[in-house]
Amino acid sequence: MMNFNLEKDFKSLCDLLATYQNVWNPEVMNSYPQSLEAYPSEWLTDITNLSEDIQWRIDAGISYNEIREPKLKNLLNNLKKLSTFQKLETSEVLFSDTDFFKMKEKKRHEIKNISGFLSQKTNLAKSCIDVGGGIGHLSRTLANKHEMSSLIIESNKEFCEIGQKVNKKLNIGKINYKSEPFNKNSTYHCGSNTFALGLHACGDLSSEIIEYSVNNCLQNILSFGCCYFKTKLENHCFLSSYGSKVDFNLSKYSLTLASRAHTGLTKKAFIKKKRVKSYRYALHLFLFHHLKQTEFKEVGESKFSLYEKDFSDYAAEKLNYLGIEKIEKQTLEDFFESKQTRKLIEAMFCANIIRWQFGRAIEKLILIDRALYLKESNYQIELGELFDENISPRNVGIFAKKLP
Ligand SMILES: C[S@@+](CC[C@H](N)C(=O)[O-])C[C@H]1O[C@@H](n2cnc3c(N)ncnc32)[C@H](O)[C@@H]1O
Repeated sequence: MMNFNLEKDFKSLCDLLATYQNVWNPEVMNSYPQSLEAYPSEWLTDITNLSEDIQWRIDAGISYNEIREPKLKNLLNNLKKLSTFQKLETSEVLFSDTDFFKMKEKKRHEIKNISGFLSQKTNLAKSCIDVGGGIGHLSRTLANKHEMSSLIIESNKEFCEIGQKVNKKLNIGKINYKSEPFNKNSTYHCGSNTFALGLHACGDLSSEIIEYSVNNCLQNILSFGCCYFKTKLENHCFLSSYGSKVDFNLSKYSLTLASRAHTGLTKKAFIKKKRVKSYRYALHLFLFHHLKQTEFKEVGESKFSLYEKDFSDYAAEKLNYLGIEKIEKQTLEDFFESKQTRKLIEAMFCANIIRWQFGRAIEKLILIDRALYLKESNYQIELGELFDENISPRNVGIFAKKLP
């Protein structure tokens, strides 16, 4: 099924994102205090005054009904509307436990839906290159259920070795491995009657697979992006002629935003997140205002148990990590509890609730650009959701077929 609205969808998303680029592009904490100035104060007040339950419902994208600021409500509803994808059709394919060997629940779901999707297609190329194929679950399924052969190009040597052992154990032939980083200027296929696969190929890798396929006129492509922030470039590089006209950059921060799960946040996870963020923001504010260290500092990940302790315990550990002299417990607690700090933490958290709503729209812009590039390169394309977003958040696939 062709998707006829790509250009229109791309333009609408671009216009909306361009208007609010100061809101979503910089990270709130890293760009503090300028970041907060991008948010109309009445928006932040509105979200701040809502109950925790309603804040969670906004953050989880469940409902924006309780927002009182009409412009904000309209923006979030608009974003949601423009960020939706059509669903790709899949059909039921029977899988045995052996077919699912070593696959976790998430992988089983993806593989089942891809297999069901492909089983409806005719004239698929039977020879695949599976880039970033991991141990080879997808290639194994295609060999098993769709009589295809595959060359997996996978930079992780260990994955290749495990995959070879699994295939041997299950007596599956026709799968070869090349353990090296994919190079779009190299040659991996024999003839253009080839199917290029990239299931959750990280960052630029998805774009590179698509470029490789176009440059070599490959017959079919199936691409699912992920980890958009894993780019060697400063900003995201658009592929299509539409993309080349976009007059804003997608920074690493906004690419991280696009890589989040956009749905399924539970209330419990929201409350946990609020606690973690409040300590992290408070530490940043302490460094910024109290110690006059205005440069953003990475402080490393911590177990949640640290956030269950007092702020002063958390801060002491992080200050030590940063090589900063010990600060008195009471000074830290007083800073954390002060009205000014509480107000700033709340404003930063509410700003982020708004900012987080842009993630799916940014992801959609990236994916439409890839699809448009394929369309411009004489491919028939389908773009849509193939997985349940709650099971596999990077659930949007691009399927392409070379036109004569
Ligand atoms: C998210 S995993 C997906 C694995 C597999 N396609 C699947 O869905 O089960 C991404 C894989 O790409 C591999 N990878 C990352 N960069 C690569 C590159 N430049 N060339 C080849 N493989 C790469 C990683 O080692 C990893 O196995």
